[in-house]
Amino acid sequence: MKRLLITGGAGFIGSNFIRYILAKYPGYHVINLDKLTYAGNLENLSGLENDARHEFIQGDICDAEAVAGILRKGIDSVINFAAESHVDRSILSSSEFIRTNVVGTLNLIELCRKNRIGRYIQISTDEVYGSLGSSGFFTEASPIQPNSPYAASKASADMLVRSYCHTHGFPGIITRCSNNYGPYQFPEKLIPLLISNAINGFPLPIYGDGLYVRDWIHVRDHCSAVDAVLHNGKPGEVYNIGARQELPNIQVARTILRLLGKDESLLTFVEDRPGHDRRYAIDPSRIEKELNWRAQTLFDSGIRETIDWYRNNSNWIEHVRSGAYLTYYDRMYGQRHKTLSEM
Ligand code: NAD
Ligand code: TYD
Repeated sequence: MKRLLITGGAGFIGSNFIRYILAKYPGYHVINLDKLTYAGNLENLSGLENDARHEFIQGDICDAEAVAGILRKGIDSVINFAAESHVDRSILSSSEFIRTNVVGTLNLIELCRKNRIGRYIQISTDEVYGSLGSSGFFTEASPIQPNSPYAASKASADMLVRSYCHTHGFPGIITRCSNNYGPYQFPEKLIPLLISNAINGFPLPIYGDGLYVRDWIHVRDHCSAVDAVLHNGKPGEVYNIGARQELPNIQVARTILRLLGKDESLLTFVEDRPGHDRRYAIDPSRIEKELNWRAQTLFDSGIRETIDWYRNNSNWIEHVRSGAYLTYYDRMYGQRHKTLSEM
C-alpha cells in the first residue's frame, strides 16, 4: 500500500487526480490537504465521503506544523497541486500567489527533505516558458520566461525544487502541463466559463482578437501523465505534458456554441488581458518516449463529453456560482470537515 499526500485535492485537477488514483490503485491511501480557498470545493469529491482511503484535511501548505504533522503519519510520496491558479486574479493582486505558490512550495519541499519523503512531484505549468510566436514548441530545455505574476510564481517554485534536487539530492520531479479542461473546473477559466454562459444564454467574453492560442488537454490525460511520472519518472527531471491540440480561443468558443445549438451573436469581444501570452504549445516527446505515455482524448470528443458533464451537473455550477458549495459538508453531514486540530 502506498500513502500519498496530495495538496490542493479539492481543486479541479487535484480532485480529478484523487478519483483517478483511487480507481486505479485500490490499495492506495490518499491524504488530501487543501485550504479550501474560493477554488477549493468539497463537492468536487462527492462520492468519496465514506471512502476510508481518502482522508480530507483542511489546511494550508504554508503551515509548517500542519504539514510536518501529516508527514510524520507516514507518507511515501507528495504531489503538490495546491496553488493560486488564475492569471487574471494574479494581475489584480499577486501577493497570495507568492505566498501559496512560492512560500508554500518551499515549506513543502523543506519538510519533505527533512522527513526523507521518497518522491515529490511539483505540478507546474507550461506558462513558465512565456509566450511563443506562430511557430515552435516548448521543450524541457526552453528558457523560463514567465510573463504573468501567476507564471512567475510557478517558475519561482520550479527553481526552488530544482535547487533542492541539485543541492540536497532531493527526489523532486517537475511536470509542466498545458491548459486543462474537463469536469469540476471552476468557471472562471475559459472553457467552463464559456460552457456555463452559453447554457444560460449569457455573453461569451472573448479577450482581444480571440486569436490567442492554447494547447488543450483533457484533465484525465493530465492525471495519467502525473501517474506515469509518479511511478516511473526520474528524480531531478522535468516532464512537459501536452496533447498536441492547439486551438485559437475563438474556435473553442464557436465549437461550444455549435455543440450547444446556440447563436454566435453570444460572442462578445472584450478588453484584452494585460500582457496576454499569444500562444502556448507543448512538445510532449520526452514523456511519450521515456515513460511511454500518450494523451488519449481528442479535443473533439473531450469537449462534447465536458459539455455533457456541465449540462448534467447544473447543481454543481449553481452551487459554485451562488457560493453554496462552501457549506457542502455541513449540509450533507451536519458537521464540519476535519480541521488541523482534529487530525
Ligand atoms: P484550482 O485553482 O482549481 O485548485 C487549486 C486548489 O488549491 C484549490 O482546491 C485550493 O483550495 C487549493 N489551495 C490554494 N491555496 C492553498 C494553500 N495555501 N494550501 C492548501 N491548499 C491551497 O487549480 P487547478 O486548475 O486544479 O490547478 C492545480 C495545479 O495544476 C496548480 O498548481 C496549477 O498551477 C497547475 N496547472 C493547472 C493547469 C490548468 O489548466 N488548470 C495547467 C497546468 C498546470
Ligand atoms: P484561462 O482559462 O484563464 O487560462 P490561461 O490564461 O492560464 O491560459 O484562459 C485561456 C485563454 O482564454 C487565454 O488566452 C485567455 C482567454 N480568455 C478569454 O478570452 N475570455 C475569458 O473570459 C477568459 C477567462 C479567458
